[in-house]
Parts: sequence; C-alpha cells; structure tokens
Amino acid sequence: MLVLLFAALTAAIQLNVQSDSDVKSVASTIAYDMMTVYTGNQSGQVPGLLPGGLNCNPNNIGTYCWWEAGAMFGALINYWQYTGDSSYNDVVSQALQWQKGADSNFNPANQSRSMGVDDQGFWAFSAMDAVEANFPEAGGNAPSWLSLAQAVYNFQLDLWDPDTCGGGFRWQVFAVNAGYNLKNAVSNGGNFQLAARLAYVTGNSSYADWANKVYDWMAQSKLMQVDDATGILYIWDNTDTNNNCIDQTNYVWTYNYGIMLAGAAYMYAYTNGEQVWLDRVNLILKSTFSLFFPAKYGGNVLYELQCEEALNCNEDQKSFKAYLSRWLAVTALLVPSTAAEINPKLLASAQGAAGQCDGGSTGRACGLQWWSTTWDGTTGVGQQMAALSAIGATLNRQDLVPLTTNTGATSKSDPNAGSTAAKDPTTEHSPITTGDKAGAAIFTIAIVILAIGGAIWIVL
Ligand SMILES: *[C@@H]1O[C@H](CO)[C@@H](O)[C@H](O)[C@H]1NC(C)=O
Ligand SMILES: *[C@@H]1O[C@H](CO)[C@@H](O)[C@H](O)[C@H]1NC(C)=O
Ligand SMILES: *[C@@H]1O[C@H](CO)[C@@H](O)[C@H](O)[C@H]1NC(C)=O
Repeated sequence: MLVLLFAALTAAIQLNVQSDSDVKSVASTIAYDMMTVYTGNQSGQVPGLLPGGLNCNPNNIGTYCWWEAGAMFGALINYWQYTGDSSYNDVVSQALQWQKGADSNFNPANQSRSMGVDDQGFWAFSAMDAVEANFPEAGGNAPSWLSLAQAVYNFQLDLWDPDTCGGGFRWQVFAVNAGYNLKNAVSNGGNFQLAARLAYVTGNSSYADWANKVYDWMAQSKLMQVDDATGILYIWDNTDTNNNCIDQTNYVWTYNYGIMLAGAAYMYAYTNGEQVWLDRVNLILKSTFSLFFPAKYGGNVLYELQCEEALNCNEDQKSFKAYLSRWLAVTALLVPSTAAEINPKLLASAQGAAGQCDGGSTGRACGLQWWSTTWDGTTGVGQQMAALSAIGATLNRQDLVPLTTNTGATSKSDPNAGSTAAKDPTTEHSPITTGDKAGAAIFTIAIVILAIGGAIWIVL
C-alpha cells in the first residue's frame, strides 16, 4: 500500500516553477515522453511526420496532422534554446529539411490534398525559431533556416486574393481543396506573423509593409471585431468568400490570439516601439487575458475556451495552448512593459500544466485541464507540447530575446528563395479513402478542366 502510493507520487511530475533547474528537468521529461510518439527518424519511416501525418483527421485520437508536427519541431528548438539539451537537434534538423519539399518552401507534394496557408505557416515559424535562436544549420547543400521561411513568404505572396472580400488569404493553397472558400484567422494571422518576424530579423521594410497590409485587411474584416461594451477584441475563426465575408464563424482559439499578439510584438520591436503597435499588443493581450484566463479558475491559468472543459477538443486544438504560451513569453521579451502582467500568468499556467502531468501508463502523461490537479484522462502530443511550452515559457530570460541579423543571428538570407517554385506542383496522390470522397468529385472536375485548358492552349 505504502509502496504503491510512493510509486504514484514519484511518477507524477513535481515542479517548482521558481527553480530553473527544476524547469529544465521537468521540460526534459515531458519532451522525452512527447517524442516517444515520433517514429519519423526510424528506418522506413518518413522524417517529419507524426502518426497519421500522411492523411490526417484531427478527430481521430492519436493521429496528428502535418502542421502539428511542424509546430512540434519548433517547440523542440525552443526547448534546446532554453535548456541547452541538444538531444533532439538532429531529429529536428532532419525533419525540417525533409518536409521542406521539392521547392524548399514547405509545400511537399504529399500534403497537397489539404495544404493550408496556416499549415505552411507553422513550419515556417519553426524555421524562424531556428533563425532567432541560431539553431545549428543543417549544413552541406541544405538551405538555411532563414531561406526556408523566406521561401514560404515568397510563395504565399501570390496567394493573396484581392478578388473576394477586398483581400486576404484563403485557408487552402489549392482551389480544389475543401475549405478554399474560407478566409480564416490563422492563415492570415500566420502570414502576418511570418512577415513581421522576417522584418524584425532582417530589418527589410518590404516585409514590414506586407505585415501592415495583412493586419489592416484583417482589422477591417469580420475576423477581428471589438465589442464596444467590453472593449474586448474578438478574433473569430473564419469568414466565407461564398457570402462575400459578411459574417463570421464565432469561435475563438488561443492560438489565433497568440499569432496576432506575437506578430504585433515583433512589429513593435521592429519599429522601435511605435505607439500603434503597442496599442495593438495591449488590446490583444487584454482580450487574451479576459477570454482565456478565466476568473473562475483564479484568473492566471490558461484554458482553451471552446472545448477544454467539455473535453471535446480535437487533436489540433489540444496543442493550441502551446503556441499562445510560447508567444506570451516572446511578447514579454519584445515588449518589456507587458512582462509584469504576463509573467504571473505564465508561472501559474506552468504550475497548472505540471499538475496535469500525472496520468497515462507512465503515471506522468499530461492532460489538458491545467486548472485542475486531477488528471483529465487524456494523453497525446498536443497535451505534451502544450505543457512543455508553458513550462519552458517561464524561463523568459533576457538572453532568450529573439536574435536579429544585427544582434547575432547568422542564418543566411535569400530574399528570392523559392521564387522559381511551381505555384501548382504536380501532386502525388495516395489511394482515396472514405474521408476524401467529397473532395474527389471536385478534384476530378478540376483535372478535366485542366486537361481541357491544356488542350485549348495547345490548339492556340
Ligand atoms: C530517433 O530519435 C530519438 C530521439 O527522439 C533517438 O532516441 C533515437 O535513437 C533515434 N532513432 C534513430 C533510428 O535514429
Ligand atoms: C511522401 O510520401 C512517400 C511515400 O510514403 C515517402 O517516401 C516520402 O518520403 C514522402 N515525402 C515527404 C516529404 O513526406
Ligand atoms: C527585401 O525584401 C524584398 C522582398 O522580399 C526583396 O525583394 C529585397 O531584395 C530585399 N532586400 C534586401 C536588401 O535583402
């Protein structure tokens, strides 16, 4: 009896958030457990993919979409930066280089059936994490981390769609894919943050001009709306080009606030503290606090408003708190006036996250509900990554401020990277599954149209 009790206590994760060495060792345990799910570096497997990554459905527990794997490698770059533990560096490097695809712009043909502007964005963020931390380059003929991010940026410029809703990015890269009709916050916000980070790192004003353009379009669209009564900014999930974007889908997600918050923080730093960016940072931050740090749980613990209490988040959504946690830490570093408000929330969330890491077969797998010390019965990559990022975020030391070319970032710039990339690469399609049937008819029609188009062209 006593022995059993002792076993349970030692397995559960104990964390003193005030202790750097505790934070590092807990992060190491959580990262290790997260990586037991990753088999992409084993022989015969595809580097960079998590289980289910070739044909994902985020509603299937234990399978993870391509974008989430990309995000996970970023979390491991952050992990290396704040702990100095390089155990995963080779795996991360191999994964990013493999999934960059034939055109080195994170648009691999295997993923074209559901390639989103947002999906590319998360891989590009990981490349930027590498740049901003001087993560070792892959070497040889491999493209630099910075050039990979620049290639995504250059590729996405051509996807800007002024023909509907006055601008903005559609969710999907390819017109034949389901969801092409939507303009969503994470695709537009992702491109905005990428442009802001490229401006911050390189000092090149072209990126900043573009970031302004994307932000301005979002701010006047239904995607971003301020409630007059409360002053809260709502960043809604998506708006539909099929009805000219006159309304929106009323979901709010932590990662959309994180994307916009950090993007605005990078712009604040790039502009040496322009008031307009400070105001935006403060508005997004205030809204983040009131939506996702509910008073009923003490006001300092992060939760996923839409799905966490009912435990009906899908596998994508279970990872969202990872990104907001990370981007809150980055914001506290780039906009020092926000640190006093952000830090207590990071500490309490990290403590809460550790308190959820006492489940599963290991007795230390992390659940989702950080506001409770009773394990919620869930396990997975998203939960591990969110706990890892929240706990790591407490170490937002001054030496972790993202590097720029002027402050020591060494990754080689190639402003024209990817500019020769195909806009509509030949797609390799794996066998059609039930889930693909809806898209199949549309795809066939598209191929017929392409074929007819080709025939006409030949005749001309
Ligand atoms: C794959 O990476 C893990 C670290 O996550 C490492 O322990 C393992 O040895 C690697 N396997 C191979 C075959 O390289
Ligand atoms: C694409 O899929 C094939 C077949 O599974 C695999 O061999 C290849 O490594 C994959 N490429 C990428 C970039 O995922
Ligand atoms: C700045 O970025 C723009 C847009 O990508 C590019 O055309 C230009 O060459 C860059 N300038 C420098 C000095 O890198």
